[in-house]
Amino acid sequence: QPAVVTTIAELRTLLDGRRTALVPTMGALHAGHLALVDEAASLADTVVVSIFVNPLQFGPEEDLERYPRDLEADLAALEGHGVAYVFAPDVAEMYPDGKPRITVRGGTVGELYEGRSRPGHFDGMLTVVAKLLGIVRPAFALFGQKDAQQLWLVQRMVKDLDIATRIVPVETVREADGLALSSRNRYLSAEERRAAPVLHRALEAAASAGDRGIDAVIAAAQSVLMGEELVAVDYLKVVDPRTFQSVPDDYRGPARVLIAAQVGPARLIDNDDLYLN
Ligand code: PAJ
Repeated sequence: QPAVVTTIAELRTLLDGRRTALVPTMGALHAGHLALVDEAASLADTVVVSIFVNPLQFGPEEDLERYPRDLEADLAALEGHGVAYVFAPDVAEMYPDGKPRITVRGGTVGELYEGRSRPGHFDGMLTVVAKLLGIVRPAFALFGQKDAQQLWLVQRMVKDLDIATRIVPVETVREADGLALSSRNRYLSAEERRAAPVLHRALEAAASAGDRGIDAVIAAAQSVLMGEELVAVDYLKVVDPRTFQSVPDDYRGPARVLIAAQVGPARLIDNDDLYLN
């Protein structure tokens, strides 16, 4: 089992002079997180997994309180995956003065899609990721494609702020029926769980309409989503993966479809790439 470290000072001492790969998480670990961990172990000798439910990235009406926390289960899940340290600070260790005075802002892309539905979310996420990169100073940090907008923003932050960490994207891990693994899937009732893979089916429908233009792509995804009454779509967007802006009607080239939906008590997101020609 990995050693648990709860203070910044101790972690810095332990990591001194080591070349590391960092996997930032909020715990409730599943096979999606473990894919990041395994990739990290292939890149560096010392793998650090951070487990911290970051209050800064939750809105006042969101699930901060009920977000699943079980350090023992997480440590058991990590066993045999080559993790040296689990960094599990408490909130006071990360934010000794309460909310930090200086924070990272996600700019215009941070206010679109997820950012529009969750005001301040990406600023809070980027701020904690900047802190974690400053604490660990890893050679590599791994992020899932599942949270494509988060990944784009982290890549952009590292570029714009010249942070000396290579950001490594990892493909989305899915259940056999296509549902992307997520810590929030455990909020779903059996009936909602049966409905949830419609997000992935909509992405597949979108991808196969890629040669009929953007309107056809959106229509194809929408008609699949409409077939599932337990799923309330929040947004469905096609973006340019380089800029993360919505693509214009005449766009040709690689694109990414983003879906967010409320399924019972859970807000689920998913995305996939497609080619428009
Ligand atoms: P969390 O939701 O715990 O996710 C941690 C990492 O696991 C993220 O990079 C996320 O994209 C990745 N991940 C989640 N589900 C995945 C799946 N099914 N397949 C592949 N990767 C998956 O994202 C966060 O935490 C936080 O915002 C964090 C970056 C830790 C900052 O607080």
